[in-house]
Amino acid sequence: MAAADPHPASAIASATLSRNAGEGLGAPPIVELHGVGKRFASGLKALDGIDLTVARGEFLSLLGPSGCGKSTLLRIIAGLSEPSRGTCQVSLGEPDKPAPSGRIGFVFQDPTLMPWSTVAANAELPFRIAGRVRSEERDRVAAALRAVGLAGFERAYPHQLSGGMRMRVSIARALVTDPELLLLDEPFAALDEITRFALNDDLLRLWETRQPTVLFVTHSVFESVYLSTRIAVMSPRPGHIVADLPVNLPHPRTGTRTSPAYAAICETVSRALGTAMTDIRA
Ligand SMILES: Nc1ncnc2c1ncn2[C@@H]1O[C@H](COP(=O)(O)OP(=O)(O)OP(=O)(O)O)[C@@H](O)[C@H]1O
Ligand SMILES: [Mg+2]
Repeated sequence: MAAADPHPASAIASATLSRNAGEGLGAPPIVELHGVGKRFASGLKALDGIDLTVARGEFLSLLGPSGCGKSTLLRIIAGLSEPSRGTCQVSLGEPDKPAPSGRIGFVFQDPTLMPWSTVAANAELPFRIAGRVRSEERDRVAAALRAVGLAGFERAYPHQLSGGMRMRVSIARALVTDPELLLLDEPFAALDEITRFALNDDLLRLWETRQPTVLFVTHSVFESVYLSTRIAVMSPRPGHIVADLPVNLPHPRTGTRTSPAYAAICETVSRALGTAMTDIRA
């Protein structure tokens, strides 16, 4: 077993999982939130009046201070939690066709791998839960692991991997079902900058290749601008959206980090975040 993290330059671009060309054209928004609020049983109000519409194929970052309700919002969109007020509509699949399960992929901040299972078994989990692991599903797991640069590590256990590799397993697990909607909750927050930049590029290639809709939670202005087509800036708790900013930077984004246009958008977003910090509701 090789010990080094491979970080292949075009790992995700080589993904073999397929998506129909043109899927989603003219389709309704994939996510529509109107007046969403969340008050927990403890009485704590985490979210207040969230209005957000996400079109298919967007890469939207949710940027806001710690505790403003970003994870709460992502859980509501994933259907893991109910809003206390307002409506959350997620439109998956094609009109008049029920959406198969697995159309939403969720990558948590912590890789949350089963330490007793191999890389392949961890990535296979969504299929095991659905009760179907046949050769087709195994092929999809192999393709997802190849896509995140983990070919050759299928039989390794989580403790034999670096932090970046463990996060790649977590991303592969979210990809095996070829989700239409990919929800990522600060997936790279605990990683060193070099690994984080490499995974940023892998995620961008995945999005450029397969065009899933991505909702990406981050604290980082620089990361949000580098990755996104749009940034929603949230206020402190109770979280609401105070700025909705387009990121008009060309793809691929190689070389973007040193461009004046990138610096200018980072400044705009930083200012919006600064203003957001003063926008506190009772
Ligand atoms: N199950 C829960 N019961 C009660 N309060 C909760 C629950 N989950 C979250 N909260 C509270 O809701 C608020 C928002 O939490 P959330 O985890 O959504 O914030 P966040 O923006 O994701 O923060 P961070 O950036 O630190 O991850 C916090 O004050 C948190 O304590
Ligand atoms: Mg969170």
